[in-house]
Amino acid sequence: EVYRVDQARSEWPVFAVLGAPVAHSRSPRYHNERFAREGIKAIYLPLRLDSFSDFSALAQVIPLEGASVTVPHKVSALSFAVAVAVGARTCGTAALRAGAANTLVRSTRDECGGWYADNTDEAGFLEPLQELRGDLAGLRTAVIGAGGAARAVAAGLFAAGVEVHVFNRTRSRAQELVRDCGIAGEHAHGLQDLAQTERPFDILVQTTSVGMGDDPLDPIPQYTFTGEEIVYDIIYTPPETPLLKRARAAGCKVINGQEMFQRQAAAQFRLFSARLGELSLIGGAPRSNGG
Ligand code: ATR
Repeated sequence: EVYRVDQARSEWPVFAVLGAPVAHSRSPRYHNERFAREGIKAIYLPLRLDSFSDFSALAQVIPLEGASVTVPHKVSALSFAVAVAVGARTCGTAALRAGAANTLVRSTRDECGGWYADNTDEAGFLEPLQELRGDLAGLRTAVIGAGGAARAVAAGLFAAGVEVHVFNRTRSRAQELVRDCGIAGEHAHGLQDLAQTERPFDILVQTTSVGMGDDPLDPIPQYTFTGEEIVYDIIYTPPETPLLKRARAAGCKVINGQEMFQRQAAAQFRLFSARLGELSLIGGAPRSNGG
């Protein structure tokens, strides 16, 4: 059973995914199903937000208790939470590492100034990899791409002790990324350098939009797999990108973006539940109708 908007009562707390676009987000389905399954009277909506400067006004007109933040607002969401914060410990360390937040939760703790920001993409990304490979410390890893998604990935890997190299079409963006994450400058490369690498990588992570949807392209067609690599593509539609297909055929272990999506959503749901717990809206009796 999934609660629908017209079944929600006005006093129910509201959660939302905020971004532009949001129509294709799988988050509403994930969170509404969990609210329903766990008998929690809350509703989760896809809300298109063109400018993040409208966030405060939005949160005043609807009883918004938490939000998933998506493209293009992740950096603004962190800046917002830092700006309204009063004390020092107001954001999750993963958000500070990535320089971006994918989660906002209303907070009554004084030092948060109203909103707490965190980033569950990092844990969502790392967990499947750690389950497959165990301790990641010291492993040689190539991150393909240097956009917003690559930042969370690279920062998380670096914090886990991984040797991170970033390969991007525009090399200057790879240089900015490694500088911002505290990774050695010589670990920033152009995309074409990947095929010329002398030592193979233990892990390759694909974070660009190449191969998404119906795109038949592989971002690194010149790169030959040894078959020993773990290849992780964070794209979740399709579940097997052309790159993953080629990696699997070469004998590599592969992880797709659906794993990361599920894990980051579960971590986000824990933050939302903690907020509902603070409000004493969960942890009580199950729904009386047994439905
Ligand atoms: P996101 O937040 O999803 O990471 P982004 O910040 O726009 O999105 O970053 C997109 C990434 O995909 C960048 O690394 C981009 O490379 P550039 O920095 O050179 O633009 C990469 N990308 C997009 N299209 C690409 C293509 N056709 N070939 C190679 N890389 C591509």
